[in-house]
Amino acid sequence: MARKFRKIGVLTSGGDAPGMNSALREVALEALSSGVEVLGIMKGYTGLISGELMELTPERVAGISPLSGTILYSDRCLEFATEEGMKKAVRTCELNQIDGIVAIGGDGTFRGATDLTHHGVPCIGIPGTIDNDITSTDYTIGFDTAMNTVVGLADNLRDTCESHARCSVIEVMGRDAGYIAVESAIAAGAVAVAIPEVPFDEDKAVERIIKERKNGTRAFIVMVSEGLGSEFGEKLTKRINDEAKVESRFARLAHVVRGGKPTLRDRLTASMMGEKAVKELLSGKSDLVICEKDSRIVARDIDYALVLDRLYKNKLKDGDLEKFSEKVVVKMKKEAEEVRQLVKDLYTTANRLA
Ligand code: F6P
Repeated sequence: MARKFRKIGVLTSGGDAPGMNSALREVALEALSSGVEVLGIMKGYTGLISGELMELTPERVAGISPLSGTILYSDRCLEFATEEGMKKAVRTCELNQIDGIVAIGGDGTFRGATDLTHHGVPCIGIPGTIDNDITSTDYTIGFDTAMNTVVGLADNLRDTCESHARCSVIEVMGRDAGYIAVESAIAAGAVAVAIPEVPFDEDKAVERIIKERKNGTRAFIVMVSEGLGSEFGEKLTKRINDEAKVESRFARLAHVVRGGKPTLRDRLTASMMGEKAVKELLSGKSDLVICEKDSRIVARDIDYALVLDRLYKNKLKDGDLEKFSEKVVVKMKKEAEEVRQLVKDLYTTANRLA
């Protein structure tokens, strides 16, 4: 029999992402419509430890969808990974009669959510990060807005490059993943893109710029991902400048890409994920992560999602795969391989379009 829920909590943790507020709104409205109260937990797991809470009423969440960032604020909380931090968090839940939690964020957030579930507080995760780097889901909240920002800024840079016959090398966020770089490179018509997942043929990129300049192209955009290291973009800029003889400038977009009005895609996906998370939680389920797979919103086992992620990122820990049956491991390996192939295909497209 499903546990009776009277009050749930919701938090946003890790790097903020446009669209998180739509998820918060939907979590609140879906729970309230089932007669369940909702407490917003401030500053992610930090607020869970310190007991900083805010009641989410229909009035409080009205009009928050167009806002970027997160009305609950966010944090990367190291204390939550300690036994002492966990004890304090569980205590906050007991004191405030929080029967379950929806945790919105990236893989670190999900690790926290599953730990909390194992300490008796049922949790469900929602993927919210501009990086789109959670292997179990095709999409993470914030990715579309971030890419639209990158494309808009790349278009602006192209304007001035055209006037001055220059090349702009643009570095974008994404942590160790190149999704933002590769997809916005295609959309912005970049001449080349470099991402951490696929070896970059720098000579070929320089040759292509030389050839296109000879053919009359004035403006060039090159996209690079921050995962290649802080010096990569600047060195490449110098090389294009010196060898291709195209005057070049380096632009690091950094956190500017994390702000901005959320797009329809982010608001809608966040809302659908929020609704699904609450439905699953109130039906007695936990330790799940809400994902988009093949355009459908589905709930997946959080442990599977975390191990799949580590498998894809070559960060498996001892005993990770032993927890699953042979059949599940085969499925997991296939899924990781499909994601690798998808990234390679995007990379090939991006570097061929030029
Ligand atoms: O995970 C989102 C992200 O914006 C990454 O793209 C980036 O590497 C990181 O967060 C930056 O973190 P911080 O906001 O702590 O500087």
